[in-house]
Amino acid sequence: MPITIRKPDEIVRKLGQLIYIAGGQWGDEGKGKLVDILAEKYDIIARAGGGANAGHTICFKNGKESSKFVFHLLPSGVLHEGKINIIGNGTVVHIPTLLDEIHALKAAGIDVRNRLLISDRAHLLFEYHKIIDRMQEESKGDKKVGTTKRGIGPCYTDKIARRGIRAGDLLNIDRFAAKLRENAEKHMKDYGFEFDIEAEINYYKDSVELFSDMIVNTSQYLNTAYLAGKTILAEGAQGTHLDVDFGTYPYVTSSNTTSGGASTGLGIAPTKIESVIGILKAYTTRVGEGPFPTELGQMEGDMLREQGGEYGATTGRPRRCGWFDAVVAKDSIIYNGINVINLTKLDVLKGFKTVKIGVGYKLEGQELSYIPSLLEDFQNVEVVYEEMPGWNEDISGARSFKELPKNAQSYVKRLEEILGVPINFIGVGINRAEMIYK
Ligand code: GDP
Ligand code: IMO
Ligand code: MG
Repeated sequence: MPITIRKPDEIVRKLGQLIYIAGGQWGDEGKGKLVDILAEKYDIIARAGGGANAGHTICFKNGKESSKFVFHLLPSGVLHEGKINIIGNGTVVHIPTLLDEIHALKAAGIDVRNRLLISDRAHLLFEYHKIIDRMQEESKGDKKVGTTKRGIGPCYTDKIARRGIRAGDLLNIDRFAAKLRENAEKHMKDYGFEFDIEAEINYYKDSVELFSDMIVNTSQYLNTAYLAGKTILAEGAQGTHLDVDFGTYPYVTSSNTTSGGASTGLGIAPTKIESVIGILKAYTTRVGEGPFPTELGQMEGDMLREQGGEYGATTGRPRRCGWFDAVVAKDSIIYNGINVINLTKLDVLKGFKTVKIGVGYKLEGQELSYIPSLLEDFQNVEVVYEEMPGWNEDISGARSFKELPKNAQSYVKRLEEILGVPINFIGVGINRAEMIYK
């Protein structure tokens, strides 16, 4: 059921006890910002999948002071006192990155120790996964995926091959050391690289005390909390079109980023997810390789990149930029069951004489209203565009829909019409406060 929320206080009542926030494009849609805003209203915030390939940005102003946080592994609810944050079983966790994030927050005066739980079933990502990621990318030459080189694919490969090491294994450090030794030796032999296993084992021996009490059965925790009436916000990572099943395979990540992945990634039944908020940028971006039908050429692409600060929050790579692709968005709505949308970065679209929306594809003369499964077909689609007049005004000060320039209003309304789902939240700037409830 499509949903409309007029003010923050209606969020939980209208969206439900358990919701998922899904990236509807190729990642970096602005998930972190909305999760941080909604975290105020939810008791538990849980990351269901992915690892430190994610980069979720939160910005806010406190008087004249501006703060910015980028989280790779920590859920985006950690800035709020009294909320429990969970790193779910579907994630792949690089402990040194997690500890860096925890320490950085501590330096900023925030102690996450009583706010964070890590699933004992979450898979651990080791330095050798990163080495293998780099080697695999190099060996692919111009067919490389353009991964974040964070070791994500190799770690999920170990999980699926049933030889992964999980966070719960750390609770018995000798057993953990034996498993790590065995896995590392196998990978060194298979891939032919050198790696200091003992240094890696010692790192965990020395640091495990810092976080071992956070390692618990989080699915049991979540289900018990759910039954007790606690509200849960599941935070997606990456985007629908990076999903290993429904994305632009093989130019995808190695996890299920859609709402089904939220269910398996947290151990909560799909029937419990009451709403899915789809996050969609007012245009489209993509980092790494892979098809991108509405990608813009240098002039307009550079303009979007510079106005939108479109550089990766994890790798710093320039993001590829293009027009809004409604076919991409509609597929995301279907795969995730999106019933409400947060359109983000509408402010960035200013200064264009006209703005375009990709409304359909043509493949060998045939009209397509969905993304074809085969890469070879997707690479060859021709985009059908609608063009609308643009606007020049700075809209970052707007706090209601009617304060937006008429042309910006028409753009949002047209997107709503095409997508058939209400655009309830509209992002007009990087900061928490820069959000319109339509
Ligand atoms: P995520 O991975 O989906 O959490 O998104 P990222 O943090 O990687 O990238 C989104 C970027 O856009 C960040 O730099 C955010 O601060 C910024 N951002 C989010 N929403 C808005 C918005 O409405 N307007 C503008 N100008 N920036 C936004
Ligand atoms: P957030 O959560 C944007 C992309 C990489 C690459 C592909 C595979 O911040 O939206 P991987 O390292 O996962 O094996 O890389 O997926 N990718 C992302 N792009 N945002 C992300 O996360 C991404 N996580 C992975 O650029 O194309
Ligand atoms: Mg990101």
